[in-house]
Parts: sequence; structure tokens; C-alpha cells
Amino acid sequence: MCGIVGFIGNKDSKEVLLKGLEKLEYRGYDSAGIAIVNENGVTIFKEKGRIADLRRIVDERVSANTGIGHTRWATHGVPSKTNAHPHQSTNGRFTLVHNGVIENFDLLKREYLKDVSFVSDTDTEVIVQLIELFVKEGLEVLESFRKTLSLLRGSYAIAFLDERDKDTIYVAKNKSPLLVGLGTGFNVIASDAMAMLQVTDQFVELMDKEIVIITKDKVTIQNLQGETISRNPYTAELDASDIEKGTYPHYMLKEVDEQPLVMRKIIQKYQGKNGELTIDSKIIDAMKQSDRIYIIAAGTSYHAGLVGKQFIEKMAKIPVEVHVSSEFVYNMPLLSEKPLFIFISQSGETADSRAVLVSVKELGHPALTITNVPGSTLSREADYTLLLHAGPEIAVASTKAYTAQLAVLAILAEVTAKSRELEVGFDLVRELGIIANAMEVLCDSKEIIEQVAREFLTVTRNCFFIGRSLDFYVGLEGALKLKEISYIQAEGFAGGELKHGTIALIEEGTPVIALATQEGVNLSIRGNVKEVVARGANPCIISMKGLEMDEDSFVIPQVHELLTPLVSVIPLQLLAYYAALHRDCDVDKPRNLAKSVTVE
Ligand code: G6P
Repeated sequence: MCGIVGFIGNKDSKEVLLKGLEKLEYRGYDSAGIAIVNENGVTIFKEKGRIADLRRIVDERVSANTGIGHTRWATHGVPSKTNAHPHQSTNGRFTLVHNGVIENFDLLKREYLKDVSFVSDTDTEVIVQLIELFVKEGLEVLESFRKTLSLLRGSYAIAFLDERDKDTIYVAKNKSPLLVGLGTGFNVIASDAMAMLQVTDQFVELMDKEIVIITKDKVTIQNLQGETISRNPYTAELDASDIEKGTYPHYMLKEVDEQPLVMRKIIQKYQGKNGELTIDSKIIDAMKQSDRIYIIAAGTSYHAGLVGKQFIEKMAKIPVEVHVSSEFVYNMPLLSEKPLFIFISQSGETADSRAVLVSVKELGHPALTITNVPGSTLSREADYTLLLHAGPEIAVASTKAYTAQLAVLAILAEVTAKSRELEVGFDLVRELGIIANAMEVLCDSKEIIEQVAREFLTVTRNCFFIGRSLDFYVGLEGALKLKEISYIQAEGFAGGELKHGTIALIEEGTPVIALATQEGVNLSIRGNVKEVVARGANPCIISMKGLEMDEDSFVIPQVHELLTPLVSVIPLQLLAYYAALHRDCDVDKPRNLAKSVTVE
């Protein structure tokens, strides 16, 4: 979702800002802009559409060493040039970018800004107008900023410029992510370290309600009371090449292909000296002490949670509930006596999940975050973190993070089981190795899967996924992948459930993708396929070696039955990829979607 960058220093800021915004494109956006300030004042360039469109209107002749930039994912007001950030106060003195949602913006307008005529429909404009108002009333700029922040309800990462002071960027954050990057003779800000790896790998985390005053040589962090806070920088352990596409046409394809490597990395990261899988004993104690685990997540991570429940219940024998975070916030179920919360989030920034974490902490319950991003909000605020080690995931459609989540959940389940002296019945390290090999075979089968996508998904307007047991959860993820990037209306169902309503939608040629990797239900899912075929469906059966039959379209290599989701999802990821490609869709940046959903 919205992204922020800023640069202040020893050279023209435009290119750093634009490159930074390009690195934030993956988060999802529909307009973008930059503002730069020099001795002649502030110049703003903004445009609806892509950064490439913004680049076209940026005037090379204007240069300035200080600037801020923004990608906007519309919440208040349609995507348009007018609603794009930066926004300016009426007299043009202050220019501001904002990520988040100001919940009381209407109230603030009525209470403080009755006489101001607003240019945009955004909640953001209220912030910059308030800063101007309080300065006009006699406050210093910093005091005005502080007073404005004290009135805001909601989430924000803010950066603003004062036309009269080209040597300072003012910054603040609450709930929305923002980092300060340090350099020699310059400093930067960014929603995400990736945006500024081009100039530095030294970053300082900001905490909620902090204000930062940034010049080219100095970064001053203050709390709302104006007290200065010192905090050491950390080195972002990201390789700039990790965030490049290399020879791949799309990030999604690169990330699908990285899955075998990620599996091997996870094994290596979680293997102790004796070769056994190991996890911080505090986390395992928390697992053992809990009488029920609550998994909280959104989107693909929620689908990983559904499979994770099976791993934990089958191996560690602890009951698990899985909840969508946006519902859990308002509709908390009756909790057990000793709950443990597990937050699964690739980005570690999903606002709905964070809202649950805040209430869980208020209730005093322990929380573990499973995330791909060290230092992310959900990681910082939970008691414990397990990392995915999947490397940056740039494509909006999550692929390698999903399989990494499953692997880490399986390891958590296995280590907990062993410490409870329960028999798991298989060697997980060995099985994950077999999975990595099977993933490689699947990644090498792109031509066949592309053919299947061409045959089943090129012209259809809808598609159903069915499966039983673990295959059902993988079907949900397959349907999500397909709808996200190809815009085909796709839904996943438990094999037996389709006939309780949705079968009415089956027409001549409707594709139904059936997963058949579970021995115990192999015949029943094939029975469900017969039911839809009898109504005209075009069936595509994806089975597993050992369970395959003549009618199957694709057979995945054999892996341990409990771990099949790690492998069976790959043909579904690739089917979605090729369907999107054949339909000329923007694979990595699907319409309306954001990678990191930082508003509730
Ligand atoms: C967005 C993304 C999805 C992702 C979901 C949860 O909707 O487009 O790919 O699964 O957020 O994100 P998280 O970072 O919490 O896993």
C-alpha cells in the first residue's frame, strides 16, 4: 500500500526519489508524486498511474537536494492526479505525504478548518492544513506539527517540507511503517528498506508517536513530549540483487522458481549442530504451556494458517483455531484459559493483524509472529518471532512466502511434538529435502503447465477448485492466486460442498480444477469430479504419484502425505501465472491490489 521516500543531502534528490518509488511499486499503488524544495521554493510533480508516467512529467531542469515522494493506494477519494500526494497547505508553505488513514479527518475539518477550501478528497490534506493553521496562529513549525499529531486519530507515516527551510524534512509515524536511512552527507526515509538500498544499508527503526527532524548531517528523534531519543542503526541484511528481476520476465516467476532454494535455506537455518531441527526454547515452552493456539492472518497467510493447523494438531496435538484477522478484531471468540497467538504475515505489516496483536497484548496473552521481514511491526510487537528466510517477495501474489510459512509451521509443530515426547512418525529434515527436490521437478515442468493453462483458462470467465482434506486448503490458495492476477472469477470448495449450491453455476466447459493428493479421499474427490463432469464441466485433475489415474492432467512427485500442500500449490501458482500472461494481465502488479495492506 502507500509508500513514502525522502532524501536530503549532497546531490539532486529527484533520481533517488524516483528509484525509491520504483522499489515501492510492489506494495500496490494507483498514483505517485514527488515534491522537491530549493531556494526558489517547492516544486511538485504528481500523476495518476505508474511511476513511468510520473517520470515523463518530471522536469529535469529543476533540481533540489531535498525532496519527498509517495505512491498512493486510494482509500479516501478516487485515484486521480488531484488526490495523489504530495498535498500542500493553502498558502503553499507546507508540502506533505502520508501513508495511513486519519479516522477523525471529518471532525477535524469541522472543528478547526471550516474556512479552508480543500483541493482533494483525501484525509491527508487535513494534516497539512492543520500544520499551516497552527503556524499562522503563532506556533513554531515543530510545535505546530506536534500539536497536529496530538489531534490525529488513526494511522500515519508522514513526511513534510517547509518551503522556508530547504534543509529539513519533518517526519512522524504511528502504526504505519517508516524507517530512516543514514548516509555520509545525506539521510533518507523510506517505508521499506528496499527503497533506499540504492544509497545505504544503515537504517534506524522508528516507534509509534515519534517525531524525527532530518537534515543532511543529523537525525533527531523525539517523543511527543519533545524529549530526544537515541537509537542505534541496524544493517539491512538485504542484497540489492535480491530485489532485481534478473533475466526473469516477472518477479512472480522468479519467486516461484526460488522455492526449492528457500526450502533448503529454511532447513539450514532451523537445523541445530546435531542435525536436529531446533527452535528457541522460549517459543517451544510457550507452545507447550498453551491449551489452544489461535492463528491470525490474512489472504495467503490465512491459507497457510489453515494447513498449519493440521500440522500442529496432527504432530504436536494442541488444538488450533485459525481466524481471518479483519474479522477477529471485532468478533473475538471465547478464548481458552491459556491461549497462544500465532500471527502469520509475510510483510509483518498487515494492519488488521496488527490490530489483533494490540488487543491480544492488552489482554496479556503471549504472541508469536511468523514473518518474512525481520524488524517488521508484527515482529517487534510480538513476544517471539520466527523468520521465513524466503528473501524479499516483490510480486503482489504471494508464492515463496506461502511455502516458507508452511515449512516453518511444520518445523514448529515437529519441534513442539518432540519436546512433548510425541512420536511424529517421519524425519522432517529428510521430507523437506524431498520436497525441495519435488519443487525443482515442478519448476522444470513449466511448459506442460502453461499448456494446461492455455487449454483450461484462456477464455473462461470463472473457474472452481475442489479438494478434500489438505487439498481443500490448497484449492483455496489456488483460487486466490488465479483471481488475484488473471481476474478470472475463481473459488475454492471442499469437494463435497460444491453440490450444495455452487454446482448450479457449472455450465458447458466450466473449468474445475481438482486436487487429488490425499489417499484417504482419492476416490471421493474423483466422485465429485464425475458429478461436475455430468453437468458439463471441463475437469483438470492434479494428482500425486502413486494415486494417479489415466484421466489426470498433471501428476506431482510423491512427497509425505501431510506435507503435500508445499508441493501441490506450485502447479496452481504456475497455472495462475500463465493464465494471467495469456490474458495480458500485469502479473506482478495486479489491479486494485496491494502487497502490504497497511490500512484496516
Ligand atoms: C495482501 C497481499 C496478499 C497477502 C495478504 C496478507 O492482500 O496482496 O498477497 O497474502 O495481504 O499479507 P501478509 O503480509 O500479512 O502476509
